[in-house]
Amino acid sequence: MSFVASLVWNYIPLVLLYFLLKKIIEVFLKRWRLQAAFKDFPGPKAEFFSGNTHQISGDYAGLLRMADYAHTYPGAFPSWMGPAEAQLISVHPETAKVVLSGSDPKDEFSYALMRPWIGDGLLLSKGKKWDRNRRLMTPAFHADILKNYVDVFSRSTQVLVDKWRKSTGSEEVFHHISLLTLDSMMQCLFGYHSNCQNEKTRHPYIQGVYDVSELIVKRIVNPIHHYDFIYYNFTENGKKFKQACGAIHEHSEKIIKKRKRLLKNEAEGSRNVDFLDILLTAKDSDGQGMTDQEIRDEVDTFMFEGHDSTASTISWCLYNLARHKDCQERCRSEILNIVGKTKKVTWDDLTKLEYMFACIQESMRLYPAVPNISRCLERDLALPDGRIIPKDMRVTVSLFAVQRDPEVWDNPNEFDPERFTAGSKISSMFHLPFSIGPRNCIGQHFALTQVKVVICELLRHFQLDLDPEREAEPECLLILRSKNGLYLKIKPI
Ligand code: HEM
Repeated sequence: MSFVASLVWNYIPLVLLYFLLKKIIEVFLKRWRLQAAFKDFPGPKAEFFSGNTHQISGDYAGLLRMADYAHTYPGAFPSWMGPAEAQLISVHPETAKVVLSGSDPKDEFSYALMRPWIGDGLLLSKGKKWDRNRRLMTPAFHADILKNYVDVFSRSTQVLVDKWRKSTGSEEVFHHISLLTLDSMMQCLFGYHSNCQNEKTRHPYIQGVYDVSELIVKRIVNPIHHYDFIYYNFTENGKKFKQACGAIHEHSEKIIKKRKRLLKNEAEGSRNVDFLDILLTAKDSDGQGMTDQEIRDEVDTFMFEGHDSTASTISWCLYNLARHKDCQERCRSEILNIVGKTKKVTWDDLTKLEYMFACIQESMRLYPAVPNISRCLERDLALPDGRIIPKDMRVTVSLFAVQRDPEVWDNPNEFDPERFTAGSKISSMFHLPFSIGPRNCIGQHFALTQVKVVICELLRHFQLDLDPEREAEPECLLILRSKNGLYLKIKPI
């Protein structure tokens, strides 16, 4: 053996030992720093390696446990994901209000899986870029624009009505509603009639968005797949994901280019304005618009945020109405009184459907489409009780827990729309399915308009019943879904 080879051979164990010790010291230092930061925040006992992952999980038991911890550990409590990885979980309205009052960036750890698809759009961008683009996009959600979408939502629902008329039994509602919201989002965003609710004619872009959403969900539940290197190089799903993202981006770019050419040549007022027109023509105070990359990221962000969370909200609302037949009946008679059996639902009708809206609000309280949101603090944050959450801390606000706080809501786990009927004033601090503060949901009025139109149209046509053989089980996978599908029996009226 040469001198160099024997030197390397003899020293390899020492080098390995050096790196191992360095890693161990780093882990302990980080753990020590986190423990110091949490000194005023008691929490459930954590295992050294697995932390609290067995208690704080995305399944229904985990979500309910988080709501329970609100009494045991008031305000917020630490949750460990490993020896040196932890965050604070905020489960109290006052704490949530303080955390959400700033425009701190999103916590990359929680949102990283979506970034290859939606890029640095409004949901994930931060600082000046976020501030400027939020201002540029706000006019897109003005009531005068939203009014035009009622017809789009109604037509998309009609396609589902025609499909369900042929239904003979139990339907997995989430799948159908996702296609419906994708269909209408495609029209509101690009003015494009995709006809995607019909499986045979599904547009490749829609198929891509649908596949990517499903693949993200599959990736979340498999921790090994969280490592990019493994996911993209060694798994079929990783390869599919990359391919689908590429196809979506290519398609968005094509549509943006085409629309830019059209905007140069067409006469003003020759067609209805859609989101893309607004993104392409918005200018800041310096007369600057968004770059092509920014527009693509926003289009993808709207497509993601706009279809999945709305589909979850509608599906859980239908589920609650199937579970509470008296509420379903009351909604239906309100709808028949105000809208009638066959007339097209209008923007003005929607404001009059008060009881139906109370049911939607109550359903969003119990089953918020986005159960948790996370921030990485850019500053020390003082809580109302004087405790300080230090800068750089990751904080997750459990909207699910806040909305089931027994100090605010009597029988918090009961579905009771009366909480939202006329006269009851509920602060947005306690009911916050769209979050609160500067980074709340920009699309909330758009979403609520769609939820109301869809529920109204479906209840006019169908009687909804639970399927006793397929009980839904809520599970948080970015958004609230059902572990075993959300099946309802659909009976035409
Ligand atoms: C019922 C349906 C919806 C629910 C429950 C919902 C809920 C939320 C929540 C909780 C957030 C805060 C996320 C966070 O802080 O990490 C959010 C942000 C956002 N939502 Fe929605 N959303 C819905 C529909 C929509 C729609 C239809 C659009 C667009 C058309 C949209 C666009 C966005 C965007 C762009 C953000 C990021 C805002 C920012 O950070 O400035 N959402 N949404």
